[in-house]
Amino acid sequence: MKKLITVLVLLSFGPVCSQTSDSIPLHQKKMQWFKDAKLGIFIHWGLYAVDGIDESWSFFNGYISHADYLKQTKGFNAKSYDPGEWVDLIKESGAQYAVITAKHHDGFALWDTKYGSLNAIKSSAAKKDVLTPFVNELRKNRLKVGIYYSLPDWSYADYTHFTRDSIRYTVEEDPKRWNAFLDYYQGQLRELSERYNPDLYWFDGDWEHSAVEWQAAKVRQLLLGKNPNAILNSRLKGHGDYATPEQGMPITRPKEPYWELCMTTNDSWGYQKTDLNYKTTDQIIGIFADVIGNGGNLLLDIGPKADGSIPKEQTDLLKGLGRWVHKHGEAIYGAVAGIPKEHFYGPSTLSKDKRTLYLFVKGNPNGEVVLRGLKNNINRIWVVGQGSKLEHQVLGKVYWSEYPGIKYIRVPEHVLDENMTILAVLLDGEVNLYRETGSVIESN
Ligand code: GLC
Repeated sequence: MKKLITVLVLLSFGPVCSQTSDSIPLHQKKMQWFKDAKLGIFIHWGLYAVDGIDESWSFFNGYISHADYLKQTKGFNAKSYDPGEWVDLIKESGAQYAVITAKHHDGFALWDTKYGSLNAIKSSAAKKDVLTPFVNELRKNRLKVGIYYSLPDWSYADYTHFTRDSIRYTVEEDPKRWNAFLDYYQGQLRELSERYNPDLYWFDGDWEHSAVEWQAAKVRQLLLGKNPNAILNSRLKGHGDYATPEQGMPITRPKEPYWELCMTTNDSWGYQKTDLNYKTTDQIIGIFADVIGNGGNLLLDIGPKADGSIPKEQTDLLKGLGRWVHKHGEAIYGAVAGIPKEHFYGPSTLSKDKRTLYLFVKGNPNGEVVLRGLKNNINRIWVVGQGSKLEHQVLGKVYWSEYPGIKYIRVPEHVLDENMTILAVLLDGEVNLYRETGSVIESN
């Protein structure tokens, strides 16, 4: 029976981790910083910033020729690049980790790789390694280091796919050539792991080949052999540690124990001058609240310009988000997913011991917010980051029924946050919810 339970627990981890050899407690331990971090900053920086076009996809999909795409190397100069400034901004946003595109599908590497020559040093106006100084700054500031690495390399002569309409060869046709590519990409990964020992690898593009073709299990072993605590995202054909929904906040709570929503601030991953369709600070905070209320992380993307400066719209958004995150840190970092929406019509989180419930209140509730079906008594309520104590009233509770009534919390206007207010509700024990459909009261 015990064996069966262990097997069931292992299975319930889902495809994301089922193929790992980590034991569950060890895996949980390794994932803890990630689970607690809540916010990361994604950085898409590469050639595409020069013309302000879609990263890699613009030539793959035929909007520009490969030759013209590569001409952007002449404009990638990094002349205003200040990794210290980048990291200050990341810290100010409240993020605990960053993930940077060391190499996107176009094959342009930001570091001094000895594999291939399409990189920032040998073939761009920058003529320098732009990855190492950033990683050093992250480490200096105790932020976790995430490396985005695209498995496909559409510019590399020995890779199968070139553009949507032209494939160089298939693996069956030329396994030797494919092996040459495997040596190349795994060599780059070995380099990245030896040089930077990343806390997190963010793979992308696994859809172009099978797990066997990529040698995904071997790659996982290679990276974990170097650092058993390294975390791998899901995009290594089922050999990763956490799920990566993209752009859209999941509507229902994802079942995976670990997940991260990656999202752009406007509609583009890299810098695109003409894309001004930015989300507002309020909207980003609203989405972030939904994400953490459902137990996930947000990986919010920025796209620096070719000279290394970060567009003002993006800087402003990160600063605005940071003001709010720092003020409300106790309800964010280390918290866990909140209560189901039937009980509170908004996002919520819980402290790890589940004795403090955090309610996220958007706008002005005009007097009170409502908590339904909470069996606990409330010991104290306060406004996070502001400190005021709040009063509450319980209505509809009858002593002969389990039904706990409705709790109304009075929220005066002067305690409201300009973006989103958070109320901390200290309970008399672990959160305990009434989940019945209601019943006839037989005695009065
Ligand atoms: C997609 C795209 C890629 C982008 C990534 C970010 O997989 O291929 O361009 O970098 O999403 O999640």
